[in-house]
Amino acid sequence: MNKKLFIKTFGCAMNMRDSEHIITELQIKENYSITENAKEADLIIINTCSVREKPERKLFSEIGIYSNIKKQNAKIGICGCTASALGEKIIKKAPSVDFVLGARNVSKISKVISIPKAVEVATNYDESNYEFCISKDSSFRALINISIGCDKKCSYCIVPHTRGKEISIPLDMILKEAEFRAKNGAKEIILLGQNVNNYGARFSNHHRKVNFTNLLQEVSKIDGIQRIKFVSPHPLHMDDEFIEEFAYNKKISKYIHMPLQSGSNNVLKDMKRGYSKEWFLNRVEKIKKLVPNVGIGSDIIVAFPTESEDDFKDTLDVVKEVGFDTLYSFIYSPRENTSAFNLEEIPRDVALSRLETLQNLHREILKSKAKKEINNTHRVMIENVIDSIEGRSDNGRLIKIEGSKEVSLGEIYDVVITKNENGSLFGKIA
Ligand code: 5AD
Ligand code: SF4
Repeated sequence: MNKKLFIKTFGCAMNMRDSEHIITELQIKENYSITENAKEADLIIINTCSVREKPERKLFSEIGIYSNIKKQNAKIGICGCTASALGEKIIKKAPSVDFVLGARNVSKISKVISIPKAVEVATNYDESNYEFCISKDSSFRALINISIGCDKKCSYCIVPHTRGKEISIPLDMILKEAEFRAKNGAKEIILLGQNVNNYGARFSNHHRKVNFTNLLQEVSKIDGIQRIKFVSPHPLHMDDEFIEEFAYNKKISKYIHMPLQSGSNNVLKDMKRGYSKEWFLNRVEKIKKLVPNVGIGSDIIVAFPTESEDDFKDTLDVVKEVGFDTLYSFIYSPRENTSAFNLEEIPRDVALSRLETLQNLHREILKSKAKKEINNTHRVMIENVIDSIEGRSDNGRLIKIEGSKEVSLGEIYDVVITKNENGSLFGKIA
Protein backbone atom coordinates (compact mmCIF):
# COMPACT_ATOMS: atom_id res chain seq x y z
CA MET A 1 0.00 0.00 0.00
CA ASN A 2 1.13 3.51 -0.77
CA LYS A 3 2.33 5.33 2.38
CA LYS A 4 2.22 9.08 2.84
CA LEU A 5 5.11 11.38 3.76
CA PHE A 6 4.75 14.90 5.14
CA ILE A 7 8.00 16.87 5.27
CA LYS A 8 8.66 20.35 6.62
CA THR A 9 11.96 22.00 5.74
CA PHE A 10 13.73 24.91 7.42
CA GLY A 11 17.04 26.52 6.48
CA CYS A 12 19.23 27.00 3.48
CA ALA A 13 19.25 25.62 -0.06
CA MET A 14 21.46 22.80 1.18
CA ASN A 15 18.72 21.72 3.54
CA MET A 16 16.11 21.95 0.79
CA ARG A 17 18.32 19.73 -1.28
CA ASP A 18 18.62 17.24 1.60
CA SER A 19 14.83 17.17 1.82
CA GLU A 20 14.65 16.45 -1.91
CA HIS A 21 17.05 13.54 -1.39
CA ILE A 22 14.95 12.21 1.49
CA ILE A 23 11.78 12.46 -0.58
CA THR A 24 13.26 10.74 -3.63
CA GLU A 25 14.81 7.89 -1.62
CA LEU A 26 11.50 7.28 0.18
CA GLN A 27 9.43 7.52 -3.01
CA ILE A 28 11.57 5.15 -5.04
CA LYS A 29 12.76 2.67 -2.41
CA GLU A 30 9.93 2.72 0.15
CA ASN A 31 6.87 3.53 -1.94
CA TYR A 32 5.95 6.78 -0.18
CA SER A 33 4.06 9.60 -1.81
CA ILE A 34 4.04 13.19 -0.63
CA THR A 35 1.16 14.77 1.24
CA GLU A 36 0.71 18.40 2.24
CA ASN A 37 -1.55 17.33 5.11
CA ALA A 38 0.31 16.17 8.23
CA LYS A 39 -2.86 14.60 9.66
CA GLU A 40 -3.01 11.92 6.98
CA ALA A 41 0.75 11.19 6.92
CA ASP A 42 2.29 7.84 7.93
CA LEU A 43 5.63 9.56 8.35
CA ILE A 44 6.25 13.16 9.44
CA ILE A 45 9.73 14.58 8.95
CA ILE A 46 11.01 17.90 10.24
CA ASN A 47 14.24 18.91 8.51
CA THR A 48 15.78 21.48 10.81
CA CYS A 49 18.20 24.41 10.67
CA SER A 50 20.31 25.73 13.55
CA VAL A 51 22.25 28.54 11.98
CA ARG A 52 20.62 31.53 13.63
CA GLU A 53 17.50 30.90 15.65
CA LYS A 54 17.61 29.23 18.99
CA PRO A 55 16.81 25.89 17.45
CA GLU A 56 15.63 23.98 20.47
CA ARG A 57 12.64 26.10 21.33
CA LYS A 58 11.36 26.04 17.78
CA LEU A 59 12.04 22.35 17.22
CA PHE A 60 10.28 21.14 20.35
CA SER A 61 7.25 23.31 19.72
CA GLU A 62 7.06 21.87 16.18
CA ILE A 63 7.34 18.33 17.54
CA GLY A 64 4.52 19.15 20.00
CA ILE A 65 2.26 20.33 17.18
CA TYR A 66 2.79 17.26 15.00
CA SER A 67 2.58 14.76 17.89
CA ASN A 68 -0.88 16.10 18.65
CA ILE A 69 -2.30 15.93 15.15
CA LYS A 70 -0.62 12.83 13.72
CA LYS A 71 -2.41 9.55 12.94
CA GLN A 72 -2.14 6.95 15.67
CA ASN A 73 0.74 4.89 14.28
CA ALA A 74 2.42 7.61 12.28
CA LYS A 75 6.15 8.09 12.87
CA ILE A 76 8.02 11.33 13.48
CA GLY A 77 11.61 11.81 12.28
CA ILE A 78 13.90 14.77 12.96
CA CYS A 79 16.57 15.45 10.33
CA GLY A 80 19.07 18.17 9.46
CA CYS A 81 21.40 20.47 11.34
CA THR A 82 19.60 20.65 14.69
CA ALA A 83 19.36 16.87 14.60
CA SER A 84 23.17 16.74 14.19
CA ALA A 85 23.68 19.21 17.02
CA LEU A 86 21.30 17.64 19.56
CA GLY A 87 21.37 13.94 18.62
CA GLU A 88 19.70 11.61 21.09
CA LYS A 89 18.80 14.50 23.43
CA ILE A 90 15.87 15.01 21.08
CA ILE A 91 14.36 11.59 21.79
CA LYS A 92 15.02 11.95 25.54
CA LYS A 93 13.16 15.24 25.63
CA ALA A 94 10.45 14.31 23.13
CA PRO A 95 9.69 10.57 23.36
CA SER A 96 7.17 10.83 20.52
CA VAL A 97 10.13 11.14 18.11
CA ASP A 98 10.92 7.85 16.35
CA PHE A 99 14.30 8.65 14.77
CA VAL A 100 16.96 11.35 14.51
CA LEU A 101 18.95 11.66 11.29
CA GLY A 102 21.70 14.29 11.10
CA ALA A 103 22.73 16.30 8.06
CA ARG A 104 25.35 14.22 6.21
CA ASN A 105 23.54 11.00 7.12
CA VAL A 106 20.68 11.54 4.70
CA SER A 107 21.61 8.42 2.70
CA LYS A 108 20.55 6.30 5.71
CA ILE A 109 16.92 7.43 5.54
CA SER A 110 15.55 4.08 4.29
CA LYS A 111 17.37 2.31 7.10
CA VAL A 112 16.32 4.52 10.03
CA ILE A 113 12.61 4.54 9.29
CA SER A 114 12.36 0.93 10.41
CA ILE A 115 14.71 0.99 13.42
CA PRO A 116 12.93 2.09 16.60
CA LYS A 117 14.52 5.18 18.16
CA ALA A 118 17.43 5.20 15.66
CA VAL A 119 19.94 8.05 16.05
CA GLU A 120 22.37 8.56 13.13
CA VAL A 121 24.19 11.84 13.49
CA ALA A 122 27.92 11.18 12.95
CA THR A 123 29.46 14.26 11.35
CA ASN A 124 32.42 12.21 10.11
CA TYR A 125 30.15 9.98 8.03
CA ASP A 126 31.15 10.20 4.37
CA GLU A 127 28.28 10.03 1.93
CA SER A 128 30.09 11.88 -0.85
CA ASN A 129 30.12 8.73 -3.02
CA TYR A 130 26.58 7.65 -2.27
CA GLU A 131 24.42 7.54 -5.41
CA PHE A 132 21.14 9.02 -4.29
CA CYS A 133 18.11 8.04 -6.34
CA ILE A 134 17.81 10.78 -8.94
CA SER A 135 14.56 12.68 -8.84
CA LYS A 136 12.26 12.21 -11.86
CA ASP A 137 11.18 15.76 -11.14
CA SER A 138 10.82 17.60 -14.41
CA SER A 139 10.87 21.12 -13.02
CA PHE A 140 12.87 23.85 -14.72
CA ARG A 141 15.30 24.12 -11.82
CA ALA A 142 17.62 21.45 -10.43
CA LEU A 143 19.53 21.81 -7.17
CA ILE A 144 22.69 19.72 -7.26
CA ASN A 145 25.03 19.14 -4.31
CA ILE A 146 28.69 19.36 -5.23
CA SER A 147 30.24 19.04 -1.79
CA ILE A 148 29.31 18.25 1.78
CA GLY A 149 30.51 19.89 4.99
CA CYS A 150 32.76 22.89 5.56
CA ASP A 151 36.42 23.17 6.59
CA LYS A 152 36.30 26.82 7.64
CA LYS A 153 36.30 27.89 11.26
CA CYS A 154 34.29 31.12 11.21
CA SER A 155 33.93 31.91 14.88
CA TYR A 156 30.13 32.49 14.80
CA CYS A 157 29.13 29.54 12.63
CA ILE A 158 27.63 26.21 13.66
CA VAL A 159 27.85 24.59 10.22
CA PRO A 160 31.26 22.87 10.62
CA HIS A 161 29.88 21.32 13.81
CA THR A 162 26.63 20.11 12.22
CA ARG A 163 27.91 19.18 8.77
CA GLY A 164 31.52 18.12 9.45
CA LYS A 165 34.59 18.30 7.22
CA GLU A 166 34.37 19.35 3.60
CA ILE A 167 34.42 16.59 0.98
CA SER A 168 33.75 17.10 -2.74
CA ILE A 169 31.41 14.84 -4.67
CA PRO A 170 33.12 13.18 -7.68
CA LEU A 171 32.80 15.19 -10.90
CA ASP A 172 31.29 12.31 -12.91
CA MET A 173 28.48 11.87 -10.40
CA ILE A 174 27.63 15.57 -10.55
CA LEU A 175 27.64 15.59 -14.36
CA LYS A 176 25.52 12.44 -14.57
CA GLU A 177 22.87 13.99 -12.35
CA ALA A 178 22.95 17.31 -14.21
CA GLU A 179 22.61 15.53 -17.58
CA PHE A 180 19.70 13.45 -16.34
CA ARG A 181 17.91 16.52 -15.03
CA ALA A 182 18.59 18.46 -18.23
CA LYS A 183 17.05 15.61 -20.29
CA ASN A 184 14.05 15.80 -17.96
CA GLY A 185 13.52 19.49 -18.64
CA ALA A 186 15.82 21.36 -16.24
CA LYS A 187 16.96 24.67 -17.71
CA GLU A 188 18.59 26.08 -14.61
CA ILE A 189 21.15 24.29 -12.46
CA ILE A 190 22.04 25.52 -8.99
CA LEU A 191 25.28 24.03 -7.70
CA LEU A 192 25.29 23.78 -3.93
CA GLY A 193 28.00 23.62 -1.32
CA GLN A 194 28.72 25.37 1.99
CA ASN A 195 31.83 26.68 0.34
CA VAL A 196 30.99 25.99 -3.25
CA ASN A 197 34.02 27.53 -4.97
CA ASN A 198 36.43 25.46 -2.91
CA TYR A 199 35.29 22.45 -4.99
CA GLY A 200 37.99 19.85 -5.53
CA ALA A 201 40.01 20.61 -2.40
CA ARG A 202 39.41 17.09 -1.03
CA PHE A 203 37.83 13.92 -2.42
CA SER A 204 37.45 10.80 -0.33
CA ASN A 205 38.74 8.49 -3.08
CA HIS A 206 41.41 8.99 -5.73
CA HIS A 207 40.23 11.69 -8.14
CA ARG A 208 41.95 13.63 -10.89
CA LYS A 209 42.78 17.23 -10.00
CA VAL A 210 39.80 19.45 -10.69
CA ASN A 211 38.60 22.77 -9.31
CA PHE A 212 35.39 24.80 -9.29
CA THR A 213 36.24 26.57 -12.54
CA ASN A 214 36.69 23.19 -14.28
CA LEU A 215 33.35 22.04 -12.87
CA LEU A 216 31.59 25.15 -14.21
CA GLN A 217 33.13 24.53 -17.64
CA GLU A 218 31.91 20.91 -17.67
CA VAL A 219 28.38 21.70 -16.51
CA SER A 220 28.02 24.42 -19.10
CA LYS A 221 28.65 21.88 -21.91
CA ILE A 222 25.38 20.10 -21.08
CA ASP A 223 22.68 20.66 -23.73
CA GLY A 224 19.48 22.22 -22.45
CA ILE A 225 21.06 23.97 -19.48
CA GLN A 226 20.63 27.68 -20.02
CA ARG A 227 21.55 29.13 -16.67
CA ILE A 228 24.04 28.03 -14.05
CA LYS A 229 23.99 29.44 -10.53
CA PHE A 230 25.90 28.49 -7.41
CA VAL A 231 25.58 29.08 -3.65
CA SER A 232 27.43 29.91 -1.53
CA PRO A 233 30.86 30.97 -2.74
CA HIS A 234 33.47 32.26 -0.27
CA PRO A 235 35.20 35.58 -1.09
CA LEU A 236 38.56 34.09 -0.07
CA HIS A 237 38.46 31.57 -2.93
CA MET A 238 37.47 34.06 -5.65
CA ASP A 239 40.72 33.84 -7.57
CA ASP A 240 41.27 35.43 -10.99
CA GLU A 241 40.67 32.19 -12.87
CA PHE A 242 37.26 31.78 -11.22
CA ILE A 243 36.26 35.42 -11.76
CA GLU A 244 37.21 35.22 -15.45
CA GLU A 245 35.16 32.04 -15.93
CA PHE A 246 32.24 33.72 -14.16
CA ALA A 247 32.56 36.73 -16.44
CA TYR A 248 33.05 35.06 -19.82
CA ASN A 249 30.97 31.87 -19.58
CA LYS A 250 27.62 32.89 -21.08
CA LYS A 251 25.65 30.19 -19.28
CA ILE A 252 26.68 31.41 -15.83
CA SER A 253 24.14 33.80 -14.31
CA LYS A 254 25.75 37.18 -13.77
CA TYR A 255 24.64 37.36 -10.17
CA ILE A 256 27.13 36.50 -7.49
CA HIS A 257 26.65 36.05 -3.77
CA MET A 258 29.62 37.48 -1.86
CA PRO A 259 29.06 37.03 1.88
CA LEU A 260 30.88 39.98 3.44
CA GLN A 261 29.75 39.40 7.08
CA SER A 262 31.50 42.59 8.20
CA GLY A 263 33.27 45.52 6.56
CA SER A 264 35.67 46.00 9.47
CA ASN A 265 39.07 44.35 9.38
CA ASN A 266 39.04 43.97 13.18
CA VAL A 267 35.75 42.13 13.14
CA LEU A 268 36.66 40.05 10.07
CA LYS A 269 39.71 38.91 12.02
CA ASP A 270 37.65 38.05 15.10
CA MET A 271 35.18 36.22 12.88
CA LYS A 272 38.15 34.29 11.40
CA ARG A 273 36.95 34.99 7.86
CA GLY A 274 40.41 34.77 6.33
CA TYR A 275 40.18 37.91 4.13
CA SER A 276 40.40 41.66 4.65
CA LYS A 277 38.06 44.41 3.55
CA GLU A 278 40.67 45.36 0.94
CA TRP A 279 40.69 41.85 -0.56
CA PHE A 280 36.90 41.83 -0.70
CA LEU A 281 36.75 45.22 -2.42
CA ASN A 282 39.50 44.23 -4.83
CA ARG A 283 37.49 41.15 -5.89
CA VAL A 284 34.35 43.27 -6.31
CA GLU A 285 36.28 45.75 -8.43
CA LYS A 286 37.59 43.03 -10.72
CA ILE A 287 34.14 41.46 -11.09
CA LYS A 288 32.53 44.83 -11.87
CA LYS A 289 35.23 45.65 -14.40
CA LEU A 290 34.65 42.39 -16.31
CA VAL A 291 30.85 42.33 -15.85
CA PRO A 292 29.62 45.93 -15.65
CA ASN A 293 25.98 44.94 -15.13
CA VAL A 294 26.71 42.26 -12.51
CA GLY A 295 24.30 41.70 -9.60
CA ILE A 296 26.05 41.26 -6.26
CA GLY A 297 24.42 39.92 -3.11
CA SER A 298 25.73 39.55 0.39
CA ASP A 299 25.17 38.37 3.97
CA ILE A 300 26.06 40.66 6.86
CA ILE A 301 26.03 39.98 10.58
CA VAL A 302 25.63 43.06 12.79
CA ALA A 303 26.56 43.31 16.47
CA PHE A 304 29.17 40.59 16.52
CA PRO A 305 30.43 40.76 20.15
CA THR A 306 33.60 42.72 19.32
CA GLU A 307 31.93 45.15 16.86
CA SER A 308 32.40 48.81 17.92
CA GLU A 309 30.45 51.75 16.47
CA ASP A 310 33.45 52.48 14.22
CA ASP A 311 33.56 48.87 13.03
CA PHE A 312 29.88 49.08 12.19
CA LYS A 313 30.50 52.32 10.24
CA ASP A 314 33.14 50.45 8.23
CA THR A 315 30.45 47.94 7.28
CA LEU A 316 28.11 50.74 6.17
CA ASP A 317 30.95 52.21 4.07
CA VAL A 318 31.55 48.93 2.26
CA VAL A 319 27.82 48.50 1.64
CA LYS A 320 27.71 51.99 0.09
CA GLU A 321 30.80 51.38 -1.98
CA VAL A 322 29.68 48.03 -3.40
CA GLY A 323 25.96 48.88 -3.64
CA PHE A 324 24.77 45.31 -3.08
CA ASP A 325 21.73 44.32 -5.14
CA THR A 326 20.55 41.82 -2.52
CA LEU A 327 21.40 41.87 1.17
CA TYR A 328 20.55 39.37 3.88
CA SER A 329 21.30 40.95 7.24
CA PHE A 330 21.19 39.34 10.65
CA ILE A 331 21.85 40.14 14.28
CA TYR A 332 24.64 37.98 15.67
CA SER A 333 23.24 35.02 17.55
CA PRO A 334 25.56 32.99 19.82
CA ARG A 335 25.75 29.31 18.92
CA GLU A 336 27.03 26.63 21.24
CA ASN A 337 30.10 24.78 19.91
CA THR A 338 31.44 27.83 18.09
CA SER A 339 34.53 29.72 19.22
CA ALA A 340 32.68 33.03 19.72
CA PHE A 341 30.05 31.44 21.96
CA ASN A 342 31.45 32.73 25.25
CA LEU A 343 32.03 36.32 24.13
CA GLU A 344 29.82 38.89 25.80
CA GLU A 345 26.90 39.91 23.62
CA ILE A 346 26.20 43.49 22.55
CA PRO A 347 23.00 44.89 24.15
CA ARG A 348 19.89 44.01 22.15
CA ASP A 349 18.77 47.63 21.60
CA VAL A 350 22.16 48.50 20.07
CA ALA A 351 22.02 45.41 17.84
CA LEU A 352 18.48 46.22 16.69
CA SER A 353 19.36 49.81 15.92
CA ARG A 354 22.41 48.74 13.86
CA LEU A 355 20.29 46.27 11.93
CA GLU A 356 17.73 48.97 11.20
CA THR A 357 20.41 51.46 10.09
CA LEU A 358 21.90 48.89 7.74
CA GLN A 359 18.55 47.86 6.30
CA ASN A 360 17.48 51.48 5.77
CA LEU A 361 20.72 52.22 3.95
CA HIS A 362 20.22 49.20 1.75
CA ARG A 363 16.63 50.16 0.97
CA GLU A 364 17.85 53.55 -0.27
CA ILE A 365 20.51 51.88 -2.42
CA LEU A 366 17.88 49.64 -4.01
CA LYS A 367 15.54 52.54 -4.68
CA SER A 368 18.18 54.57 -6.47
CA LYS A 369 19.30 51.51 -8.47
CA ALA A 370 15.73 50.68 -9.48
CA LYS A 371 15.16 54.20 -10.86
CA LYS A 372 18.01 53.69 -13.32
CA GLU A 373 16.40 50.48 -14.61
CA ILE A 374 13.45 52.07 -16.44
CA ASN A 375 13.52 51.15 -20.18
CA ASN A 376 16.36 48.66 -19.70
CA THR A 377 15.86 45.25 -21.30
CA HIS A 378 16.67 42.04 -19.41
CA ARG A 379 16.72 38.35 -20.38
CA VAL A 380 14.24 37.05 -17.82
CA MET A 381 13.67 33.39 -16.90
CA ILE A 382 10.12 32.78 -15.67
CA GLU A 383 10.13 31.43 -12.09
CA ASN A 384 6.55 31.84 -10.93
CA VAL A 385 3.26 31.68 -12.79
CA ILE A 386 0.89 30.93 -9.93
CA ASP A 387 -0.14 34.07 -8.07
CA SER A 388 1.68 36.51 -10.34
CA ILE A 389 4.08 36.16 -13.24
CA GLU A 390 7.62 36.73 -12.05
CA GLY A 391 11.07 35.97 -13.29
CA ARG A 392 14.72 36.74 -12.77
CA SER A 393 17.08 38.64 -15.01
CA ASP A 394 20.44 37.10 -15.77
CA ASN A 395 21.93 39.36 -13.10
CA GLY A 396 19.51 38.12 -10.48
CA ARG A 397 16.88 40.87 -10.34
CA LEU A 398 13.34 39.81 -9.56
CA ILE A 399 10.96 41.30 -12.13
CA LYS A 400 7.15 41.17 -12.01
CA ILE A 401 5.74 40.81 -15.49
CA GLU A 402 2.60 42.65 -16.51
CA GLY A 403 0.42 41.79 -19.49
CA SER A 404 -1.49 38.68 -20.43
CA LYS A 405 0.95 36.64 -22.52
CA GLU A 406 0.89 32.89 -21.78
CA VAL A 407 4.26 31.90 -20.34
CA SER A 408 5.75 28.73 -18.87
CA LEU A 409 8.22 28.14 -16.07
CA GLY A 410 11.83 28.14 -17.21
CA GLU A 411 11.21 30.02 -20.46
CA ILE A 412 13.39 33.04 -21.16
CA TYR A 413 12.00 36.32 -22.56
CA ASP A 414 13.33 39.78 -23.23
CA VAL A 415 11.56 42.03 -20.75
CA VAL A 416 11.56 45.83 -20.79
CA ILE A 417 11.38 47.51 -17.38
CA THR A 418 8.37 49.82 -17.25
CA LYS A 419 7.96 50.73 -13.62
CA ASN A 420 9.67 50.75 -10.24
CA GLU A 421 7.69 50.75 -7.01
CA ASN A 422 9.86 51.22 -3.91
CA GLY A 423 12.70 49.28 -5.45
CA SER A 424 10.52 46.48 -6.94
CA LEU A 425 10.77 46.21 -10.71
CA PHE A 426 7.89 45.66 -13.15
CA GLY A 427 8.24 44.98 -16.85
CA LYS A 428 6.58 43.90 -20.12
CA ILE A 429 7.64 41.13 -22.47
CA ALA A 430 9.28 42.84 -25.46
N1 5AD B 1 24.43 34.60 13.96
C1 5AD B 1 23.89 35.39 13.00
N2 5AD B 1 23.98 35.12 11.69
C2 5AD B 1 24.66 34.01 11.34
N3 5AD B 1 24.92 33.48 10.13
C3 5AD B 1 25.62 32.34 10.31
N4 5AD B 1 25.83 32.11 11.62
C4 5AD B 1 25.24 33.15 12.27
C5 5AD B 1 25.12 33.49 13.65
N5 5AD B 1 25.65 32.75 14.61
C6 5AD B 1 24.53 34.10 8.87
C7 5AD B 1 25.76 34.43 8.02
C8 5AD B 1 25.72 33.39 6.95
C9 5AD B 1 24.23 33.19 6.79
C10 5AD B 1 23.85 31.90 6.12
O1 5AD B 1 23.75 33.19 8.12
O2 5AD B 1 25.61 35.73 7.50
O3 5AD B 1 26.33 33.80 5.74
FE1 SF4 C 1 20.88 26.02 8.57
FE2 SF4 C 1 23.48 26.13 8.07
FE3 SF4 C 1 22.33 23.81 8.33
FE4 SF4 C 1 21.84 25.32 6.19
S1 SF4 C 1 23.81 24.37 6.77
S2 SF4 C 1 20.33 24.22 7.38
S3 SF4 C 1 21.86 27.36 7.11
S4 SF4 C 1 22.57 25.35 9.93
